[in-house]
Amino acid sequence: MSPKQTVLVTRKLPTAVEARLQRDYDARLNPDDRLYTRDELIERARGAQAILPCHTEHLRADVIERLPPEVRIIANFSVGYDHVDVEAARRRGLVVTNTPDVLSDATAELTMMLMIGAARRAGEGEKLVRERLWKDWSPAFMVGTQVTGKRLGILGMGRVGRVVARRARGFDMTIHYHDLRPLPAAEGVFHETLEDMLPQCDFLSLHCNVTPATRGVMNAQRFALLPDGAILVNAARGALIDDDALVSALRSGKLRAAGIDAYNNEPNIDPRIVVLPNTFLMPHIGSATRETRDAMGFRALDNLDAFFAGREPGDRVA
Ligand code: DGY
Repeated sequence: MSPKQTVLVTRKLPTAVEARLQRDYDARLNPDDRLYTRDELIERARGAQAILPCHTEHLRADVIERLPPEVRIIANFSVGYDHVDVEAARRRGLVVTNTPDVLSDATAELTMMLMIGAARRAGEGEKLVRERLWKDWSPAFMVGTQVTGKRLGILGMGRVGRVVARRARGFDMTIHYHDLRPLPAAEGVFHETLEDMLPQCDFLSLHCNVTPATRGVMNAQRFALLPDGAILVNAARGALIDDDALVSALRSGKLRAAGIDAYNNEPNIDPRIVVLPNTFLMPHIGSATRETRDAMGFRALDNLDAFFAGREPGDRVA
């Protein structure tokens, strides 16, 4: 029998996933779930043929170039892979995989929660009740805006975007979307440019990858194109948003509210966002359901199994 391959696992994973890892691999686990420094990660990768990181590990070119030569694959526990310098990985001959599909439902659920939470002022309401500041009911008390029947613009009509569209149709929302190419008409109204779509959005939800073309895509010029009082939802990545522009739009009322789960510089997010009453904020929990986290782990392991069996991993991105 050939010796087991060694896998460096950077974060604590669900029990069932770690059990399979330990059964099939020489697994270097992280039971304390401590965030490794760059040097620690490189050091711990010595003798490992694979790394199984999360989006919390920033595998930039300087890290990838210093990885020990025995590392052959980076099997991410995430659908997003903007934390990995894919070009640097390619140059090093490293295979990179992600975990698509399995988190689309959980992320779409959270997106609906952000949309409704922002529109109906859920953060403010909860704070009032918890802090015992709720004194009275009146017709003017905590009035938000309705989600039902409104226009939803989706930037990035991929796996998650399409599930969000399906859920939103249950709220009688009209779906508009911008992506590189159109889908069948039943999926919604296609806009060839983002500039064309933005004036149609009562709600705008971001679901695209971070690329050089989408980094900071929601900037001051684009916020200005939204209808006054629009609501922004971001359960994708903070890097899609220019925080200065977001804060100005929220302060001026251009944006009525924002529901956010993904931020620039997590978890040390821009303090101006936190103090705004018209933000409904979650701590990057889009995929955080038991079912989904198990499925993400198994999917990452399927990719490792395929690779070490000499097959093409199903979710190869580099
Ligand atoms: C993902 O899978 O990209 C989620 O954001 C969690 O990392």
